Amino acid sequence: MSTVVVIGAQWGDEGKGKVTDFLAGDAQMVVRYQGGNNAGHTVVADGKEFKLHLIPSGILYPEKLCLIGNGVVLDPEVFIREIDGLAGRGISVKNLRISPRTHVIMPYHRKVDACDEERRGAGKIGTTGRGIGPAYTDKVSRTGIRMADLVDPESLAERLRASIREKNELFSGVYGTGGFDYDEVYNTYLKFGQRLSGFVADVSVLTNDAIREGRNILFEGAQGTLLDIDHGTYPYVTSSNPVAAAACLGAGVGPTKINKVVGVAKAYITRVGEGPFPTELMDGTGDYLREKGCEFGTTTGRPRRCGWYDTVIARYAARINGLDYLAITKLDVMTGLEVIKICTGYSYKGESITEFPATLRVLAECKPVYEEMPGWTGDITGARNFDELPVNARNYLNRISHLSGVPIALIGVGPGREETMVLEKLY
Ligand code: GDP
Ligand code: IMO
Ligand code: MG
Repeated sequence: MSTVVVIGAQWGDEGKGKVTDFLAGDAQMVVRYQGGNNAGHTVVADGKEFKLHLIPSGILYPEKLCLIGNGVVLDPEVFIREIDGLAGRGISVKNLRISPRTHVIMPYHRKVDACDEERRGAGKIGTTGRGIGPAYTDKVSRTGIRMADLVDPESLAERLRASIREKNELFSGVYGTGGFDYDEVYNTYLKFGQRLSGFVADVSVLTNDAIREGRNILFEGAQGTLLDIDHGTYPYVTSSNPVAAAACLGAGVGPTKINKVVGVAKAYITRVGEGPFPTELMDGTGDYLREKGCEFGTTTGRPRRCGWYDTVIARYAARINGLDYLAITKLDVMTGLEVIKICTGYSYKGESITEFPATLRVLAECKPVYEEMPGWTGDITGARNFDELPVNARNYLNRISHLSGVPIALIGVGPGREETMVLEKLY
């Protein structure tokens, strides 16, 4: 029996979906514990591509139980579209469950998200516009609507009436825009509740029962360490905790039940949205990585900013998440680069910095300190053993693992499930 948490060790889009799908082969249960449909997890299995936003990346295996924990914020409209899309492609969703404690994203959350971004002007965060921040805001301010309310007409009516009243005052008084009609929203969400009631089950009970029965469980993180509301590049972050500790809170399991934590990191690094990014490449190499790595957002289609692997960030992610292992993805994308740089530290006003700074003002002025290594050529997508990689690729991996202070368990050499190299078995 083993419980493994898979988290993003950078700014999201590290390939968590692929790694989760790969590891799910040996697990009986996959649990999403935070975030919402701001996530876009691409899984390629048997040559078919699936883009998942809310549904755990274990769904492609019909027998695995896939759970959405209380820490997630769920947009019912998106969820229904996603299950219908999967069903249309022959993927069964009969083993999918949602916690009654999961908060629901309402249409006014999406509108507040858009209004807030507009008001921020040049200081905008570059959110995905999915209503994530406003839904978590309501959760914390105790005005949210949970799945338990959505499937209970009376509770929905009571909570929605109060929320619409409050939000409409906000729209007219602060944003100067139109609000929402209670009846219209109620009738729509009542139907969503009826459709989703069969999915609601106590995720904490299911997960803890599975742990007691000695099953292998995978907790699938969304976003990444640097997008964490506490530990990320605040305020250019998301509104949840993507770090490993949140798996306990967002699924309802105790910290003593977590056995291993795996940080997924690209062999380089990317970021979508605004905010400082020390190793960002604004040149032809950045374009090369973006084009070759298809670095365009799964959720919004925005081009991802690309840069060199940053070991200051990797060490930070290792510390905050207590990483046991790294899963390095997209090594194949770096093939063909003549010289590869690794950021080993930052220089700030002539001073050397080795720990990730807390303030954006400092981070924005940090200049990366690089060491260089020679690149490699040739197709590596067929490699399944470490020894089959070109020597320069092996040296690069050994060096980033050493500088990150974390051993590598998995290496991705292509988007397909089978394009994965296993250095350490996790189950
Ligand atoms: P996630 O949000 O962390 O799940 O990552 P995304 O799915 O948003 O972005 C990762 C992208 O890289 C997806 O299109 C994956 O199919 C793809 N990918 C994952 N691992 C590899 C790999 O090792 N090589 C290549 N070429 N693509 C990969
Ligand atoms: P996955 O799970 C990359 C970014 C947005 C924005 C910031 C806040 O696919 O790795 P939000 O809509 O969450 O309020 O936006 O966070 N962001 C992501 N970037 N991958 C993600 O998810 C992201 N989810 C949110 O671009 O900068
Ligand atoms: Mg993604």
